[in-house]
Amino acid sequence: MRISTPHPGGPGTGIDLDTVDLFDPELYAVGDPHAIWTVMRERAPVHRQTLPDGRSFWSVTKYHDVNDVLRDHTRFTSNRGTLLSILGGTDPAGGKMMAASDPPVHTAMREPLNKVLSHRALKSRQPQIRRVVHRLLAPLLDGGTWDVAAAGAGFPMAFTGTLMGLPEADWPRLTRLTTMAVAPEDHDFRESAGDSTLTAAHHELFAYFSGQVKRRVRHGFAEDDLIGFLTELEAGGRRLRHDEIVYNCYSLLLGANVTTPHAIAATVLALMEHPQEYRRLLADPSLTTGAVEEGLRWASPANHFMRYVTQDITLRGQELKAGDAVVAWLGSANRDEEVFPEPFRFDVTRSPNRHVAFGFGPHYCIGAPLARIALRLLFEEIVALVEAFAPAGPVEHLTSNFVAGIKRMPLTATLREGAARTLAEAVAADGPVPA
Ligand code: HEM
Repeated sequence: MRISTPHPGGPGTGIDLDTVDLFDPELYAVGDPHAIWTVMRERAPVHRQTLPDGRSFWSVTKYHDVNDVLRDHTRFTSNRGTLLSILGGTDPAGGKMMAASDPPVHTAMREPLNKVLSHRALKSRQPQIRRVVHRLLAPLLDGGTWDVAAAGAGFPMAFTGTLMGLPEADWPRLTRLTTMAVAPEDHDFRESAGDSTLTAAHHELFAYFSGQVKRRVRHGFAEDDLIGFLTELEAGGRRLRHDEIVYNCYSLLLGANVTTPHAIAATVLALMEHPQEYRRLLADPSLTTGAVEEGLRWASPANHFMRYVTQDITLRGQELKAGDAVVAWLGSANRDEEVFPEPFRFDVTRSPNRHVAFGFGPHYCIGAPLARIALRLLFEEIVALVEAFAPAGPVEHLTSNFVAGIKRMPLTATLREGAARTLAEAVAADGPVPA
């Protein structure tokens, strides 16, 4: 998604909120959603859109409203699905997949899984992730053009794939399938007309995970990986059923694959567009953790999550009926000028920075510790290695109303003296990556 800098009272004032189409995936590839959200926060923070086929949804764009919708499962349920792509339908994963369940079903699945995905539990994974980072950055040593979006696309697979115990030969196809599932209208990922790309991706991913689960169950013991863990997991006093395990494998892989690469590309782009901020990082690498958080706020890779209203309610004067869909726009919440002073300024020292890029409340991203570790290790290495980045071609954005993504971003890098040799030695010493 293109990240623009609209000014309240500026050109955005010409936007007609009766005709804007936040559903249209093209908007996020070539349009200007931030200009629309800025006007919505100002004039219509709870806004209803009706699609030509009669389906409709409410949009909330203010930070505190987004938090309320995501936090309160009693008024806003996840059970019927959480993405606009299935607006008006019934999610077959409802009540079976953590992301599409409400407490207490959700809590029973989440608590045990939380333990294996906590920061503490993942500490031992850091050397493996650092090796993945070295391999990702190694092409920079050649001094040619490097496409950070293409390189980043496979990054999560290299640690989530290992964590889940998936064979490396499958990683490229799984990477593509997960993007097909969130951007079926994007011409680079379309394998047949719109909806069928989504269906085909789901079909292949579910069949794949079904096979992975059966293989582990057949072995009669839990392999030391996340899928093995799910086959043994006790939730609410019983083991998960086969379909529940498959849905949650899908959700974990999708959660990691479709978000993390875009946090990388968007942060590098922001640092290129704000060279003074990159210079601050070079001068003081201890700012890297803050830069990663600002990059997450800036990128907001997951654009929205949806809920359904469970009872008639009034929100900022608007009457929402039980059964209505409400979309919480995270990208907008992260630019709410009432919470983030000068929200369109990229500031690696922004504090406080309570962004909602990982959501809020019971469904707060379970992969956040893993994503944070991976992004921090990556940007630590980038700061150590790269003196400056320069664009080497146009940036192309993903056609998706769910993922604020960059699919192509060629650049060149000037490397820091001595750092290239250190990286080359590290790559040679690392050997093959998978643990
Ligand atoms: C920069 C990277 C990431 C971003 C921006 C992100 C964003 C989010 C957001 C906003 C939610 C909340 C969904 C909701 O409220 O309905 C979420 C949930 C989730 N994420 Fe992530 N995510 C990231 C990385 C990951 C990774 C690495 C994994 C896998 C290890 C993952 C797996 C999940 C799962 C399974 C859920 C559902 C949690 C639940 O329902 O309790 N995510 N993510």
